[in-house]
Order: sequence, then C-alpha cells, then structure tokens
Amino acid sequence: MSGAILAIESSCDDSCAAVLAADGSILSNIISSQGIHDRYGGVVPEIAARHHLTLLTPTIETALDQANLTLEAIKRVAVTQGPGLIGALLVGVGHAKAIVAARGIGLVAVDHLQGHVAANFISPDPFEPPFVCLIASGGHTLLARVDDHSSYSLLGETLDDAAGEAFDKGARMLGLPFPGGPALEKLAATGDSSAFDFPTARNVKGLDFSFAGVKTALLYAIRDLGEDEAKRQRANLAASYQQAIVDALVDRLTRALELSGIDRAAIGGGVAANGPLRERVSELGATTHIPARNLCTDNAAMIASAARFLPDCSAAAALALDAYPSGARR
Ligand code: KG4
Ligand code: ZN
Repeated sequence: MSGAILAIESSCDDSCAAVLAADGSILSNIISSQGIHDRYGGVVPEIAARHHLTLLTPTIETALDQANLTLEAIKRVAVTQGPGLIGALLVGVGHAKAIVAARGIGLVAVDHLQGHVAANFISPDPFEPPFVCLIASGGHTLLARVDDHSSYSLLGETLDDAAGEAFDKGARMLGLPFPGGPALEKLAATGDSSAFDFPTARNVKGLDFSFAGVKTALLYAIRDLGEDEAKRQRANLAASYQQAIVDALVDRLTRALELSGIDRAAIGGGVAANGPLRERVSELGATTHIPARNLCTDNAAMIASAARFLPDCSAAAALALDAYPSGARR
C-alpha cells in the first residue's frame, strides 16, 4: 500500500509499533507490555529500556505482518521523540533511525502528547479541529486548544501530580497492584462514591489542575480509619477517590469549553480509558469525541496519526535525532 506509515512508541514501559494507511486508518496496532514492572510497584527506567531492546524488533515485525506489508511498502517512519524515559525513548529512536537509513525513507519525530491528541484523528472516526482536548496520563495532565492537526496551545496543566499518577499512588495506598488506574476503577465499581468527601481543588484558579490534595486526603482518611476499617471500606474509598479525580477533570474541561467558546471536546491519555470519566465527558452537552480505550493508553497508532500531519526531518536531522525526557516540543 502506498503511503503507509510505520510508527514506534517506547516512551515508557510499553513497546509499541503500528502501521497506518495513508487515509489514517489502522492496519495494525501492536502493544507489547513488559509485564515485569508490577513486582516493583512502578516502572523501573533501566529495566524498561532493556526490555524495549528485546521487544521492539519483534513488535515491529508483528505490526508489519498483521498489516500484511513488508518494509518495502513503508514510506515514512514515525517515532516518539519525547517526553518520556530517556533510555526507553532512545531505543525507539535508534530503531527508527536504523530503518530510515537502511531504506532511504523519511523520519517523522513526534511529541508524545501531540500523539495523544492525534488519537482523535484516526479513521474511520476522525474528529476535526477546532476542539478542546483533555489529556490525562501517567506523566501529564493538561487542557489543549486544538485549532489544527499539527499542534495545540496549552490552556492549563497540573501544578503538581498528573491524574494518572494520582490514580497510581491512590491504588498503591489501597493495596492494589500496578498499574493502579484500571485496578482502582475495578474496585471502585463495587463501592459508594458518596461515602467520603475528597477535595477536587476547585479553588485552583483558571484552567490548571492540582491532585496533591486529594492524594493526601486519601492518605489521612486511611490513617484515621485504622487498618481494619480502612480495609473494610476499601471499595468506598476507591469510589470516592476516583469520583474526586474525575470531578476535577470534568470541572476544568467544562470551564475550558466555556472560556474558549468552543463547543467541541475530546479526551486522550491513559486516564481517558476510565469508564466513569468517559461517561461524564459524553454527558457534557458539547459535541464530544472519545477514542477507543486502546487508543487512549500508550500506543503507536496515535504516533502515526500525528505524523500524518507533520513534515519529515531532513536527512541530516534524521540521523542526528535525539530524544528529550521532559517538556513538550511545540
Ligand atoms: O498515557 P498512558 O498510557 O502513559 C503515559 O503517557 O503516562 O497513561 C498511563 C496512566 C497510568 O497512570 C494508568 O494508571 C492510567 O493511565 N490509567 C487509568 C486507566 N487506565 C490507565 N486511570 C484510570 N482508569 C483507567 N481505566
Ligand atoms: Zn501516554
């Protein structure tokens, strides 16, 4: 197929490769989870990088096989340049450079957060700008104003923890396994979300977020209840905690829609896989776009989707491409 893009994403602990057709539809989207970090209660950067070294090549091969293509059919390679774990990113960047050098094709460097936004552009259900996009992941939480397919402007961001980090740390306090978000959502489904009144940081002005307070409130609630009662109330604690985080996210998204005058909203990032958040966003009253769950958590299809609207690096820049660990390149 002409114009197919191969994308590689290795910013954290998932080794991902995908092939997107020129029209933005997914031909394959492979995610190889490393399944080793749970025993440490979080991602260990050095271990993540080493696992990418063994997993990325077979993951790319599987992505090509599933797309029924060989490398000869690939016209461009897209790779996540940052932000993320530097060692993990460099493994992906190295693989991408090797392929483009061997094949003489173009390299597209993609910002991970632009990738989360671009999950909303994937066919057969692309969402057209302008829209306000809530990105909530393990490392970032922000509101983006999206006026075109290749960039966004920042409307607000978290002043401390990311929403996914709050889910992960809360889950840990409740004795749940890593990654905490999905485990906490599952436990919360059996609890009463009105049992505890956790703070939603509504006092933070404008469109910024803060999740440090809700995290501390959970810590104190567990301490005040005592070990046995906290265990008995685990599901109620999880449900109330999740509700506070979701409330905070939906509150800022609603404010952003009002302030921007844009009546179109989208979401992205791992936390956008959360059922209650998806439900609340779908009830906002605006025109909304909610990507499939596997396009919200880290994946390479979103990186290929972003690349469709970005230029290739020059040949010299491609070979010199470096990764960046933090901040966004805009
Ligand atoms: O975007 P992502 O896959 O990786 C980063 O770029 O960080 O986001 C991962 C984050 C983790 O904190 C994880 O706990 C959270 O997304 N997450 C969820 C759910 N699924 C993943 N949080 C709440 N509910 C979920 N269902
Ligand atoms: Zn992500």
